[in-house]
Amino acid sequence: MTLQEEITRRRTFAVIAHPDAGKTTLTEKLLLFGGAIHVAGAVKSNKIKKGATSDFMEIERQRGISVATSVMGFEYQGRKINILDTPGHEDFAEDTYRTLTAVDSVIIVIDGAKGVESQTRKLMDVCRMRQTPVIVFVNKLDRPCKDPFDLLDEIEKELRIRVRPLSFPISSGDTFKGVYNIYEKNLTLFTSDERQTADASTVEINDLASPELDEYISERYAKQLREDTELVEGVYDAFDRDAYLRAELAPVFFGSAVNNFGVKELLECFIRIAPSPRPAPTETRIVEPAEEKMTGFVFKIHANMDPNHRDRIAFLKICSGTFERNKNFLHVRSGKQMKFSSPTAFMAEKKSIIDFAYPGDIVGLHDTGNFKIGDTFTEGEKLKFTGIPSFAPEQFRYIENADPLKFKQLAKGIDQLMDEGVAQLFTSSLNGRKIIGTVGALQFEVIEYRLAHEYNAACRWEPISIYKACWIESDNAEQLADFKRRKHTNMAIDKHGRDVFLADTSYALALAQENFKDIRFYFTSEF
Ligand code: G4P
Repeated sequence: MTLQEEITRRRTFAVIAHPDAGKTTLTEKLLLFGGAIHVAGAVKSNKIKKGATSDFMEIERQRGISVATSVMGFEYQGRKINILDTPGHEDFAEDTYRTLTAVDSVIIVIDGAKGVESQTRKLMDVCRMRQTPVIVFVNKLDRPCKDPFDLLDEIEKELRIRVRPLSFPISSGDTFKGVYNIYEKNLTLFTSDERQTADASTVEINDLASPELDEYISERYAKQLREDTELVEGVYDAFDRDAYLRAELAPVFFGSAVNNFGVKELLECFIRIAPSPRPAPTETRIVEPAEEKMTGFVFKIHANMDPNHRDRIAFLKICSGTFERNKNFLHVRSGKQMKFSSPTAFMAEKKSIIDFAYPGDIVGLHDTGNFKIGDTFTEGEKLKFTGIPSFAPEQFRYIENADPLKFKQLAKGIDQLMDEGVAQLFTSSLNGRKIIGTVGALQFEVIEYRLAHEYNAACRWEPISIYKACWIESDNAEQLADFKRRKHTNMAIDKHGRDVFLADTSYALALAQENFKDIRFYFTSEF
């Protein structure tokens, strides 16, 4: 197969959702179709469950699962599909944001009873920022759901994207009859005794006016469906794939993941319309996937679960060319040539050593602590991929050394955990104290636990009251200097020496933005 053929057949995407909407269930059904797994329940939920076990154990359990499910690759109808897993707990949202830098499209799962939830909105913000094409799957139609038109309006308004239903549900909950596939012009009937099996019964209905429809779903629901589809055609423009690829339009499907209902339709449409690997921006130029020379970037680093082996796996997204085992590549940040004797690929539950990988693929590289998120590999060109941001943290604590004899271990541990992207480190300009900023509260537990178990170091947390950290920049040197002098007590520097303003309150932030017009406040920062 030529490089271009390998690229064209690849689909690399993530399933994203607010916790509990059905991400794990849908992922599992997709893998079942791909033959990548054979039994339901094979994909473990990576949710952190509060309860019987302690949080630490849950975190470790979750980390174990997330190594296994980081990338789930499978073949389906000649396509190579890579699903990138995202953590289920919202405290790990930053991991999810970062994974989204390595995908070419996403499927968003929405609970049909709950509609758009907070986490869905945030994840969509990241997709919008990166112009990632999205398909929406409205799940749990077997439960009483909101009116489909209300849901479509809600998605459009809350996720700020035009929508186009490609299927339409007939009722929901106890009276759920099935889904009408608008484009294929067929009806898939829902039967609840078909739970957990792959085949639902599909009937061709070329003409919705046909009395056959009344026989299948009763007169009442047939009438309703005729009215609904008429309204759909009246309200929504025809599906425009280019608008979808430009991330301006989201096709919407309805179904029930746990009943494997509507999932096949989703998958078949997905492989037809979803983009193959897209060009990737760097600081100097755009890299096209079909370029002969290999380029790629690290978007995720995962520490070994075994504390006796402090090695890590770095996940490399291939952006162009062919990755080869045992071939020298340039690690751009260090300027060193490196080759990998055992790069791994991930096929559902199995991890195997590979000889070649192509754009869109994710390769696991063995790392002894040299790599950072955002690192670029090339065949010699000094490139740096952009668009791999860190997000302004929202929770902050001072980190202190709790064991004076373990100072070095603590410093190393903090350094490496920050490279993995677990949290962000700031140094206060006021007193030089180290501040850890995270997206979620659970990260503090993760850090403390991992410092103790992997680095033999002990830390202590002290409270600090900060509303938000944001990076500041200005072309007006005088104003910047003035700002830094006045806000001296609230200034810090990040790991790369950039200025960070630690706003006490949302009011203080708004006031600073108002009073210092020449200063730009950033809520994301490129690594
Ligand atoms: P998540 O990864 O997005 O967090 O969600 P997950 O797939 O774990 O699903 C959350 C819960 O919703 C699960 O129930 C799952 O069985 C259920 N679910 C998923 N899809 C559907 C659907 O189409 N209809 C209905 N009625 N339920 C659905 P749980 O009780 O939390 O877990 P479990 O014990 O059933 O696994």
